[in-house]
Amino acid sequence: MARKRGLLISFIRSKWYIYASGVSFTLAANLFQSYYPKVLGQFTDQLEQQGLTQAAVLDASLALLIIGLAYGILGGIGQFHIMYVGRLFEKYTRKRLFKHFTKLGEQFYAKNGVGKLLSYVMNDVTTVRESISMGVNQTANALMLIVSAIVMMVLSDIPLYLILVCISPLILIPWIVVKLGPNIRARSHAVQESLGKMTEAAEEQFGGIRVTKKFAVEDIMNERFGATVDVIKDNQLKLVRVSSFFQALIPFLGALSLIITLAYGGYLTLVNQITLGNFVALTLYVRMMVNPLQAIGNVINTIQRSRASLERVNDLLNKQPEIVEHDHAVDVDWSHAPLSVRNLSFAYPGAAKEALRGVSLTVQPGKTLGIIGKTGSGKTTLVKLLLRVFDPPAGAIDIGGTPLDQLTLESLRGGIAYVPQDGFLFSTTIRDNIAFFRRSSELSLVEKAAEQAKIHDSIKSFPDGFETKLGERGVTLSGGQRQRTALARGMLMNAPILILDDSVSAVDAVTETAIIDTIRKERRDKTTILIAHRISAMKHADEIIVMDEGRIVQRGTHESLLGQKNGIYAMLHAIQEEGSSVG
Ligand SMILES: Nc1ncnc2c1ncn2[C@@H]1O[C@H](COP(=O)(O)OP(=O)(O)OP(=O)(O)O)[C@@H](O)[C@H]1O
Ligand SMILES: [Mg+2]
Repeated sequence: MARKRGLLISFIRSKWYIYASGVSFTLAANLFQSYYPKVLGQFTDQLEQQGLTQAAVLDASLALLIIGLAYGILGGIGQFHIMYVGRLFEKYTRKRLFKHFTKLGEQFYAKNGVGKLLSYVMNDVTTVRESISMGVNQTANALMLIVSAIVMMVLSDIPLYLILVCISPLILIPWIVVKLGPNIRARSHAVQESLGKMTEAAEEQFGGIRVTKKFAVEDIMNERFGATVDVIKDNQLKLVRVSSFFQALIPFLGALSLIITLAYGGYLTLVNQITLGNFVALTLYVRMMVNPLQAIGNVINTIQRSRASLERVNDLLNKQPEIVEHDHAVDVDWSHAPLSVRNLSFAYPGAAKEALRGVSLTVQPGKTLGIIGKTGSGKTTLVKLLLRVFDPPAGAIDIGGTPLDQLTLESLRGGIAYVPQDGFLFSTTIRDNIAFFRRSSELSLVEKAAEQAKIHDSIKSFPDGFETKLGERGVTLSGGQRQRTALARGMLMNAPILILDDSVSAVDAVTETAIIDTIRKERRDKTTILIAHRISAMKHADEIIVMDEGRIVQRGTHESLLGQKNGIYAMLHAIQEEGSSVG
């Protein structure tokens, strides 16, 4: 449990002094407030004994004015402090969550949709913030009022037994809290989960809105989204039912106290056991406790609800990244570092079938490796393991003799320019997209990379050239332009290893040839891995491997592979050649 509350506790510890000062102001404000029944009680007694005098009215008014002013000013300052730390908490938690998100890996994101994660950052953080701000403020207010009311009562001439009888219904409160608390928490958890599901559904449907429109399935989508909203409503109603009941119960007990006070106190006044002034003061004291009690009910209610959120956020922060760096990891020495894969087999977590089986290969620095193979044969998987998106079995992959897990992630990933199949573009300028890994890159370098990726002329034809902004996910670019922009990003890195994962599949054959020629020229002394479906893209590679169902089934140069007449490679070649001569 201590671990689960970690976030809030560590925050409060670091900002305790602001809380302390906020609470002090609030307490001081309430100290003043607790004087007013005494003033009115004394005034009543004076009224009874000496009639209405100008001096008494003046004194009482002045006292009430001072109490009002002091309560307002001190209370306001106290509230500001506490609201202020609440906002700090929000900021601090959102930053911490985001930082944590950047450490979590592919497996985590496969299980948790973007919408759900947004829901943590928005809904849960806000719920916790509201409850701590409101909680601290109102609890300080209420406790102080209740305690000072009780102290003032005890210090007055009101008999103790009378006080005890009058406030007796209030001892039921802790019992109610224990009874209903877990229930409220569980229902609140359900509400937060369904809010998360809704944001998830919204995110998914906004993302796919163009597809939706093309298939004219708006009705189905509306219905699906409507269903998630219905669930929220149902869960919220369940929560409202129990929390309203809880919230109503506490002021009810307060009112019960007041009834007892009026009846019993009134009786004692009639038989002259206590003075009229004491009766008025007692009634006011008990009345004074009703609002704070209501506030406490409110606070407990909110805290129960926000505990569900806090637990969700803490659970998330406690999720360990799957890929961790070795304590004594060293930087990759790229200067003479062959890449070797030894008997590598790998199955994705939870998958029944292995995606790679017994793969062995070596790429010497400066050489080009071509990988070809049917869709789903494990080409991208091999790259993901190389980049440690997933961890390969210990020792199966090494660079220059050092196993991958002994290398720092930064030097590993910084030395490999990977151009993925679906090059993601951000909603920013083309220039920033190309210079993604180093925003400060000079324009001339960005232009050179664009030139190498054969996208330079297209970019120049856009209204703002390299400063042209791309819409959400780069809608203004065609598929082939998008691919080449992503390729330019990889070229700009000028890294020791360049991996093109089917990165020129959407460009025409002429452009492809031009791009491949440029890469061969530019990267003569650097390592390049070319993954493609077209033989034309890799026929100049120093070694080509053919993959099928996770295995390497053929390897060699273009010429030697063509020589193996019954092999997949020769077959592919025949089909592709035929295609190109017909087309
Ligand atoms: N994250 C994942 N979790 C589980 N299985 C996966 C995952 N990614 C890929 N696979 C499976 O692993 C196998 C190999 O996939 P991989 O993406 O490596 O194929 P590929 O050769 O790159 O195919 P393509 O030519 O279509 O890009 C496939 O059967 C695929 O379904
Ligand atoms: Mg692939």
